[in-house]
Amino acid sequence: MLQKELIFCLILLPKQTPQDANNNSMISSSLSLLMRLSEMQFKAPWSLQISTHVAVVLLLCFNLTSPFFLGSAALAINGNETDQQGLLQFKAKITGDQLGIMRSWNNNVHFCQWRGVKCGRLHQRVTRLDLPALKLMGPISPYVGNLSFLRVLSLRNNGFIQELPQEIGRLHRLEELNLHRNLIVGEIPSNISGCLKLKHLYIEHNLLVGEIPAALGHLSNLKELSFSNNTLRGSIPPFLGNLSSLEIIYLPLNRLSGIIPEALGQLKNLTTFAAAINKLSGMVPSSLFNLSNVTKPDIGENNFHGSRPSQLGVNKPYLELFSDSQNQLSGLFPPSITNASNLINLQVYGNKFTGKIASFRKLEKLQRLNVADNLLGSEGANDLNFLCSLTGATSLEYVKISYNSFGGILPECISNLSTAITFFAMQDNNIVGTIPAGFGNRIDLEVLEAGGNQLSGTIPSVIGRLQKLKLFAVNINSISGSVPTSLGNLKMLIELYLNDNNLQGEIPP
Ligand SMILES: *[C@@H]1O[C@H](CO)[C@@H](O)[C@H](O)[C@H]1NC(C)=O
Ligand SMILES: *[C@@H]1O[C@H](CO)[C@@H](O)[C@H](O)[C@H]1NC(C)=O
Ligand SMILES: *[C@@H]1O[C@H](CO)[C@@H](O)[C@H](O)[C@H]1NC(C)=O
Ligand SMILES: *[C@@H]1O[C@H](CO)[C@@H](O)[C@H](O)[C@H]1NC(C)=O
Ligand SMILES: *[C@@H]1O[C@H](CO)[C@@H](O)[C@H](O)[C@H]1NC(C)=O
Ligand SMILES: *[C@@H]1O[C@H](CO)[C@@H](O)[C@H](O)[C@H]1NC(C)=O
Ligand SMILES: *[C@@H]1O[C@H](CO)[C@@H](O)[C@H](O)[C@H]1NC(C)=O
Ligand SMILES: *[C@@H]1O[C@H](CO)[C@@H](O)[C@H](O)[C@H]1NC(C)=O
Ligand SMILES: *[C@@H]1O[C@H](CO)[C@@H](O)[C@H](O)[C@H]1NC(C)=O
Ligand SMILES: *[C@@H]1O[C@H](CO)[C@@H](O)[C@H](O)[C@H]1NC(C)=O
Repeated sequence: MLQKELIFCLILLPKQTPQDANNNSMISSSLSLLMRLSEMQFKAPWSLQISTHVAVVLLLCFNLTSPFFLGSAALAINGNETDQQGLLQFKAKITGDQLGIMRSWNNNVHFCQWRGVKCGRLHQRVTRLDLPALKLMGPISPYVGNLSFLRVLSLRNNGFIQELPQEIGRLHRLEELNLHRNLIVGEIPSNISGCLKLKHLYIEHNLLVGEIPAALGHLSNLKELSFSNNTLRGSIPPFLGNLSSLEIIYLPLNRLSGIIPEALGQLKNLTTFAAAINKLSGMVPSSLFNLSNVTKPDIGENNFHGSRPSQLGVNKPYLELFSDSQNQLSGLFPPSITNASNLINLQVYGNKFTGKIASFRKLEKLQRLNVADNLLGSEGANDLNFLCSLTGATSLEYVKISYNSFGGILPECISNLSTAITFFAMQDNNIVGTIPAGFGNRIDLEVLEAGGNQLSGTIPSVIGRLQKLKLFAVNINSISGSVPTSLGNLKMLIELYLNDNNLQGEIPP
């Protein structure tokens, strides 16, 4: 008898709401409610069980057909009611709302019109919850897991605290989860494996701990993964190499250790791989850096060792940033990097690279070059000829070749470097000859640092034309003559280092 009632009720359901796209979820939610109720009843005395059970079943069936019961929040069977309840619970957890955003979340307007809420057109179900940079504070209610039609959950740049609830894993339609810059603590919830449609996952600049969970291995649609600036530990899991849709892996500023798995080299669609400022070690897998479309590989500030393959960069027309800085990489400075014709930023400082630097003639887009603190150069005559190959880089702003073994003279072509140049540092090398007068043409220069070399001759008086100069250092060289009076014109100058030379006379006022 009871069974029949149940079946009758369930069969009836779709007929009552033929246009409603929520049929499945309605059936399943009423089914689960029925199951929960029958579990409860199972413990009750037999007589009571039958009567209350029938009453509940009737109420359920009735509820779906009669408008009278539709407002019933207690049973919340309609998906839209569940969504409204979910949003109200979300609101209830907000403890800080300086801008009064949640004031629009009231019963005078339908929840689909609440600030930051978007619903589907056919059914009144929440598809987006988008509340970026609104100074909201408080924990994220587990009820968000009930917004089962949600595709985008973006709460970036707010003050959300506590853990990301496991209930997030109930959002089977979720495509984007953006919690950029909040105060989320704890681990990445393992139930995130339930968000099978997830494409964009941004939880950077939070307080996450623990490891990158194995649960992510289920998310085969994942395109972007950003966990930078948290305190994640453990290793970069090899299974990421199986998530073939991945385009961006962004992991800087964590405590990740271990190697970069070779398997990441399988990610043909990868455009960004960054893992700077971690505790990664081992050799850098060449397969990853062979991927032709990775534009900004950044592995700076780790403990990588070994050499870079000589072919690196050959097929890299898309390379924009290349950073190996502050590791223990050794061997020849990879010559093929000079073929990466779209390179804007080249950072290899703080390693043990050796050898001469070949022509940078093809790097016409280069803006920043830092090869400082390596073992580059031969202390020989032509070491700095590569600087002349940079004259085609018309946007070059920053050049640092300090703390190496560069010898020879500073070529006159310096005067033809980009007019955009603001920073030129070459201290602690073995550079000989004079300070080229050509520096006087680079009128945007703010820093000219040439201390600790074997420079001779005089300080060219044209240096006094560099009205933006803040730091001028030629200390610990063999410079002679008097200090040009023109230096007295440098209004912006904050630091001046002339010591340990053969200079005479006075420093102009
Ligand atoms: C929920 O949906 C039902 C049926 O479509 C409708 O009558 C009711 O007004 C809706 N409630 C809300 C809060 O949208
Ligand atoms: C929604 O989620 C909460 C917490 O996760 C849960 O207690 C509640 O029963 C769920 N269902 C409905 C219909 O609100
Ligand atoms: C987490 O996932 C497990 C396994 O799918 C499930 O049993 C559990 O109910 C989920 N927890 C929440 C809070 O949704
Ligand atoms: C890292 O995150 C913290 C907290 O959100 C923030 O204050 C800090 O500026 C972030 N650091 C960087 C380098 O973005
Ligand atoms: C990647 O997928 C292959 C093939 O499905 C499987 O054999 C392998 O174990 C997976 N690797 C990882 C690290 O999950
Ligand atoms: C890789 O990118 C191409 C071009 O955008 C796309 O057609 C293809 O589906 C992507 N592959 C995967 C596995 O997502
Ligand atoms: C690399 O990028 C180019 C240009 O965006 C695109 O045409 C090509 O399909 C990409 N290659 C792969 C392997 O995704
Ligand atoms: C790098 O790519 C080249 C050409 O695309 C290929 O011949 C070489 O085997 C690749 N090397 C690695 C380590 O994947
Ligand atoms: C640069 O590319 C050209 C043409 O593809 C190639 O012949 C040359 O060997 C490459 N240079 C280096 C240093 O890899
Ligand atoms: C600087 O460039 C000009 C014009 O291209 C050229 O005539 C001159 O010789 C160059 N000077 C140096 C020192 O290379």
